[in-house]
Amino acid sequence: MTLSELFQSLTKQLQGLYSKQESESLLIWLFEEYLGKSRKDIRGDFVLNPLPVEFQNAFKELLEGKPIQYIIGKAPFYGREYLVNSSVLIPRNETEELVHLIIKENKNSGMRILDIGTGSGCIPITLALEIKGTDVFGLDISEEALTVASQNASLLGANVVFRKSDILTEEIPFKNLDIIVSNPPYVKISEKELMHGNVLKHEPHLALFVHDDDPLLFYKHIAHKAKIALKPKGRIYFEINEALGRETVNLLKETEYTEVSLIEDLNGKNRMVSAKFNPA
Ligand SMILES: C[S@@+](CC[C@H](N)C(=O)[O-])C[C@H]1O[C@@H](n2cnc3c(N)ncnc32)[C@H](O)[C@@H]1O
Repeated sequence: MTLSELFQSLTKQLQGLYSKQESESLLIWLFEEYLGKSRKDIRGDFVLNPLPVEFQNAFKELLEGKPIQYIIGKAPFYGREYLVNSSVLIPRNETEELVHLIIKENKNSGMRILDIGTGSGCIPITLALEIKGTDVFGLDISEEALTVASQNASLLGANVVFRKSDILTEEIPFKNLDIIVSNPPYVKISEKELMHGNVLKHEPHLALFVHDDDPLLFYKHIAHKAKIALKPKGRIYFEINEALGRETVNLLKETEYTEVSLIEDLNGKNRMVSAKFNPA
């Protein structure tokens, strides 16, 4: 069987789970990773016999619905590659937009920046590498996530200090901050049904869900605790649940923040909120 025939046959098998376009891009990813073959090679008459066992196993996992990033153990974010495993969320495009907004709005060197709920470390590592001369910190409740974040920081040559901390029960362990950023858990348990099966089955629930009766729980804790951790005129940047834009804005306004902005992502969804801490 030529690579082109193999590609077509595997694309068909994946189409029970993914669209044709998604199936093709996932397969190209797999072909590149395990066979060293690019999109161009797939069109030729190349024959590969036998198929490497690693490729066969990876395809089996893909068919079972495992996200490709967990299969190959890495995911792209803001032009760099991050190690990921089942204890960290796969970095999302929306989060790249949040990071891009922060980079665009904050060019000063000498800033102190903290990311709360850091997961793979994609947010603080990008900020440390893109905004020169900053002191960047990240915290998470999960020891396993912090291990991945530290590995990513050293592989990418970023200087980030990570700390284990529970933002719901502890004070913020860093002070004098210019920026606090967070993409905390914000999916309501009742929204589970709307989610893709492979997210639900494979991504860490600790990173995703909050109870329906208090969906802004993390935002409340961070907004209150940030008041002693931020410098006056320091800024907060949140990624938010698109259905809770107005509520998140009101929460910040009621907690002594000014210049509160609700920002849409590229798909026109309310996805980010930024605000300035302006103590009276
Ligand atoms: C939505 S994920 C964000 C991960 C990463 N920042 C990103 O954007 O890809 C939320 C993160 O918050 C962490 N987390 C959950 N509860 C926490 C808590 N009480 N205190 C600190 N971090 C928490 C999870 O372990 C997870 O890494």
